[in-house]
Amino acid sequence: MKLAALLLYSVILNSVYGLKLLIVFPVPARSHYILGNSLSKGLANLGHDVTFIAAFSEPNPPKTLKQIVLKELGEVRDEQPRNMFEMADISPFFQIFFLNGIGAMMTERVLEHPDTQKLLHSNEKFDAVIMEQFMSDALTALGHHFNAPLIVFSTLGANRWVNNLVANPEPASYVPDLFLSTSSEEMAFTERAYNLIFGMVAQLNLYYLVYPKQKKIAEKYFPGIPDFEKIHSNVSLVLLNSHESIGQPVPHVPNMIDIGGYHVQPPKALPKDLQDFMDSAKEGIIYFSMGSNLVPSQMPIRTKNVILKVLGSRKEKVLWKWDEDQLENKPANVKISKWFPQQDILAHPNCKLFITHGGLLSTTETVTMGVPILAFPIFGDQKLNAKRAESLGFGKSLEFSSITEEELASTLKELLSNPKYKKNAKLRSQLLKDRPVKPIELADYWIKYVVRYGGAPHLRVAGIRLPFYKYWFLDVVAVFGGGFVLSIYVLGKLCKYRKCKRAKKQLKESSKKKRQ
Ligand SMILES: *[C@@H]1O[C@H](CO)[C@@H](O)[C@H](O)[C@H]1NC(C)=O
Repeated sequence: MKLAALLLYSVILNSVYGLKLLIVFPVPARSHYILGNSLSKGLANLGHDVTFIAAFSEPNPPKTLKQIVLKELGEVRDEQPRNMFEMADISPFFQIFFLNGIGAMMTERVLEHPDTQKLLHSNEKFDAVIMEQFMSDALTALGHHFNAPLIVFSTLGANRWVNNLVANPEPASYVPDLFLSTSSEEMAFTERAYNLIFGMVAQLNLYYLVYPKQKKIAEKYFPGIPDFEKIHSNVSLVLLNSHESIGQPVPHVPNMIDIGGYHVQPPKALPKDLQDFMDSAKEGIIYFSMGSNLVPSQMPIRTKNVILKVLGSRKEKVLWKWDEDQLENKPANVKISKWFPQQDILAHPNCKLFITHGGLLSTTETVTMGVPILAFPIFGDQKLNAKRAESLGFGKSLEFSSITEEELASTLKELLSNPKYKKNAKLRSQLLKDRPVKPIELADYWIKYVVRYGGAPHLRVAGIRLPFYKYWFLDVVAVFGGGFVLSIYVLGKLCKYRKCKRAKKQLKESSKKKRQ
């Protein structure tokens, strides 16, 4: 009897060890793909059987990683031929509405794709579904479809898009919105007011425009699903691509786990020409890359000339990620390439500074390697990341479209000669690495945990079940407010009545006097 129980136990343990996981990353952008691919590979290497749906593919996947590559997703971007540098001057209000359309289109493209449809109509079973949340709420129906716990991955840490799914508090008094560049340490009265109002608009946008649209998409591709609102918030776990060492510490409900930094790999050897270039840079290297979404050759000519002039006058050597074969007026100390092994360059001891757009991946990588930054943030969360680097003392941020030679030259001089930036970057790096287990192992542990406990509903805060009026105490306010108004009214009446009585009495007395 005991033996049978033991056997059963080990069978269960074994089956929980290697899980069947479905991972869906709908955003057809390299930076998002890198995160999805690192997660899929990391989990496959830890013994799970992973099916990964994304727009790009990995040439050397681990044995247990099955890729469903939706190449056509790339077209979403091509339909929006836009110079992303121009996003810098666009109001954050416009940015959130701009993303609405993109989010719905991306989500639908994933669901309508024949390869996705094939999977949906197969007999395939999964122990858990992991979906990237980026205005892609309809994908939450995948959890229901496969009758498996739903795990949400957030590219940008604990933001409104995931906070709503698990009722994670996000007080506007000290948590700046993702799209605003206020950093909490310095939120003045006007900034707090703006943060509050912006947050309310963003929230109304979600509840009145985004969610109804996503609900329609879900109902179209998962006919007969019950209540979308219930499915949407039936989230077992949120994996956050963030960490306090990089961003600001913010509240997390118990089913939110920080795994920021998990995508950074141990440094590999550089290609020979790069290795020689970096080794021979006695005065150090400045690495300049605006990430994978911005096209460097689209930058304003004036800005380009300022950068060329100032970088050309530095004694350091420069590696500049440039998308064309030639860079006109390229100074002698600059080497260009369409692609650089960014993590390995940052890991080289001669790398002194990273000039970056301030994207979260770049910021995480530079913090891991302890390299200070000069940020030229353009859109989305980049301004916030840049501000944080500035307030944490490992970088400076400049307005890209309006930089002047003097400003750029003096900022570079400060960053490269004042040792405090390197020191602070090293401290952040140490904080990022000082964790009980590697972040991918943490993800692995929690995924198994929620599967083990049938979705782990015990981790969810009750707030997720409360209607809006209860969460914000509108009923209590109504009762107390109503009570207050009522008592004033009654008091008023009472006074009037007593005054009346007194007046009548006085009248009677005076008429008595008159008669006498
Ligand atoms: C919520 O998810 C759990 C598994 O995590 C599942 O058992 C349950 O049926 C789901 N509820 C709804 C309404 O989809």
